[in-house]
Amino acid sequence: MSNSGEAELLHTFKGIPFTTRSSPELLNSLDTFDAREDDVLLVSYPKSGTHWLAGVITKLYNTQVTITSPIEFGDISQLEELNKLSSKRIIPTHLDYNMLPPNFKNKKCKMIYISRNPKDTAVSMFHYYRDNPNLPTVDTWTSFFDLFLKGNVVCGSWFDHFLSWEEHEDEKNILFLFYEDMKKDLPKVVKEITLFLSLNVSDSDIQDICEKSSFSEMKNDTEKENSDPTHTVCALTSNRKLIFRKGAVGDWKNYFTPKQNIRFQEMFNEKMKLSKM
Ligand code: A3P
Repeated sequence: MSNSGEAELLHTFKGIPFTTRSSPELLNSLDTFDAREDDVLLVSYPKSGTHWLAGVITKLYNTQVTITSPIEFGDISQLEELNKLSSKRIIPTHLDYNMLPPNFKNKKCKMIYISRNPKDTAVSMFHYYRDNPNLPTVDTWTSFFDLFLKGNVVCGSWFDHFLSWEEHEDEKNILFLFYEDMKKDLPKVVKEITLFLSLNVSDSDIQDICEKSSFSEMKNDTEKENSDPTHTVCALTSNRKLIFRKGAVGDWKNYFTPKQNIRFQEMFNEKMKLSKM
């Protein structure tokens, strides 16, 4: 991170770095947020495939679903808007489980958590940071790598985020998905999502949705939609190139030095020793 003028781009709330787009007032009010039983949450650490999942879900509902900006972005008026919505609410969020409004937990709202190999997540986030004026400047991959390992990036430590959700993996209202599984067999994952959401969707419709959700299709679609910057779940950028960059598994191998890989692996083994991953 560099430059004094950038200090105000981030602030820390309950030990987690947020951008100043997330007002402390909004974050403070999350504890009293009123959930609806049929709310569906799309949860992710940034750069794990949130837009991909959101793309699939909108097509699955085949109706005007309101994908609002994440609940942690904006000011308090954001929550008021959300409260007024008459349509079904699909709410993307990057919140740690512990920060999630308790009402979502009490009402057993359905939540889908998408995760991705943290090494690829780190590389994706590096590019996202690098070209995003709403985030502190990072000059090199090496400096970003250090920030990522320390959890000194927006939304905090990948490990803490993942572990906070993994602890609740067995709860019936939470579905755990992996980006890599979606890459390997999207129809299988989409079928799993339909069962979880109790949606009746034929196999041929699933096939069709998968074709329309490929990286190239989604990238093309968003390029066409580029004139409408509000049509995005990403509150920090309307630059679609930052969201649809490469869409690959294993890109980390092009960035991690052997030394960085060892450091990452050591940290992974230490932090994840109680994880099932
Ligand atoms: P890369 O930067 O590695 O390309 P998020 O939506 O959580 O911000 O995640 C963005 C990442 O998901 C980017 O990764 C992006 O390319 C990838 N992605 C978005 N749509 C995708 C799709 N349809 N298929 C595969 N990857 C996709």
